[in-house]
Amino acid sequence: MAAARGQFSSRFGFIMAAAGSAVGLGNVWGFPTNTAENGGGAFVLLYFVLAFVLAYPALMAELVIGRHTRSNMVGALSEIAGSNRARTVGKFTGLYAVLIASLILSFYSIVAGWMIAHLAEPVATALGCDGAARWLVESSASRSLFFTLLFALATIWVISRGVEKGIEKWSSRLMPSLLLLLGALIVYVLLQDGAADGLALYLNPDFSQITNPTIMVEAMGQAFFSLSLGVGTMLIYGSYISKQENLPQLGAIVTVVDTGIAFMAGLLIIPAMFVAQNNGVEIFSNGDLVAGPGLIFQTLPALFDTMGGTGQFIGFAFFALMTIAALTSSISMLEVPVAYTVENHNQPRPKAAWLIGGAIFAISTLIVLGGDAAFGFVVDLTTKYSQPLLGIVLCLFAGWVMHRNKVLEEIKQGMEQAEQTLFWKIWPGYVRYVCPLLIAVTFINSLRA
Ligand code: PFF
Repeated sequence: MAAARGQFSSRFGFIMAAAGSAVGLGNVWGFPTNTAENGGGAFVLLYFVLAFVLAYPALMAELVIGRHTRSNMVGALSEIAGSNRARTVGKFTGLYAVLIASLILSFYSIVAGWMIAHLAEPVATALGCDGAARWLVESSASRSLFFTLLFALATIWVISRGVEKGIEKWSSRLMPSLLLLLGALIVYVLLQDGAADGLALYLNPDFSQITNPTIMVEAMGQAFFSLSLGVGTMLIYGSYISKQENLPQLGAIVTVVDTGIAFMAGLLIIPAMFVAQNNGVEIFSNGDLVAGPGLIFQTLPALFDTMGGTGQFIGFAFFALMTIAALTSSISMLEVPVAYTVENHNQPRPKAAWLIGGAIFAISTLIVLGGDAAFGFVVDLTTKYSQPLLGIVLCLFAGWVMHRNKVLEEIKQGMEQAEQTLFWKIWPGYVRYVCPLLIAVTFINSLRA
């Protein structure tokens, strides 16, 4: 082994890091956008149910395997395998996860770069640099590449510093700032005219939509992406948790924080759209609420423009929020290939971080040059197809491959009474049968959608 393994120094540190991974563009952008596209409150309700009945048990599978093996996903799955065949499957699944985590990072950094560009725009405007301000908000390859690079450098730098001095320290600083910014923005937006209409749409479920299979598929995808599942981020973070901690409780806290912040982001974005409408901004296109990039990069900036000087300030705060959310997630993605390289190939961490981060930036460059088609391909390959499939394999490993006694032993560390808890009565069977099956059914549905 190249160096002593890192460990989170406190419970708070782990919660901030894992919640930082979970809370990202998926919460602040993906969740409200999906809600706007899929029938408002009905989607919100389904998402919450799926987050707890499907994503939480899968998250626990990663945390248990990670802390038990104290290894990255490639090492972990090979280690718990009892037979040669399971070991080979484990190893290849782990390697595939390393690849997928890296590919998610390659497109995620591009989107995060756009957020930084929009963050810089009010500053350029305030300084009277109108040409620069225009470049910052108009899409171009040069803009994408410049800001993707900036974001990649920040991500690499944090990861090169290690678990405690990098991941834990920065997540513990950034997550509370994110919460403060989000809270302040919600209060401001809810006080504006028009916000109530947005709230009504957001909070009133249209129950006829609840059984709609498309909404179900979208809600599952959202829950998996949002909890960073399948690609080994939660597994590697789990491997840095102290043996004194109560895993089921930590997993539950992370799930609650993640869904809570997604819910708060909805409280900000959907009412903001109706405030924009009240101020004369068009928020429907072809009868549907605008969603996707148009919502974040056109509708909301148009709203900020109608608010005068305060709007500049609000716009800055909003894109700062987005950038922070993205950074605490991207570091968890880069940690997956870096931990693998450090542990399985005995490389020093800083070297691994800079080399792998550089390679991922090269992939981002190809995606930028390849345009929408390349971007869509990588997003679908990673989030639509790979994350659910990897999630199934992880559940199967926790449920079938890892010995039940070992699982219990692991959970009992930090939770002595584990055997008597509701968690232990439900979860082992659940992760064996229900989770893989539910994920598979929803996945097959998504292929037909
Ligand atoms: N959970 C992050 C978000 O909601 O934006 C995205 C993410 C992070 C996905 C880490 C996958 C991952 F490994």
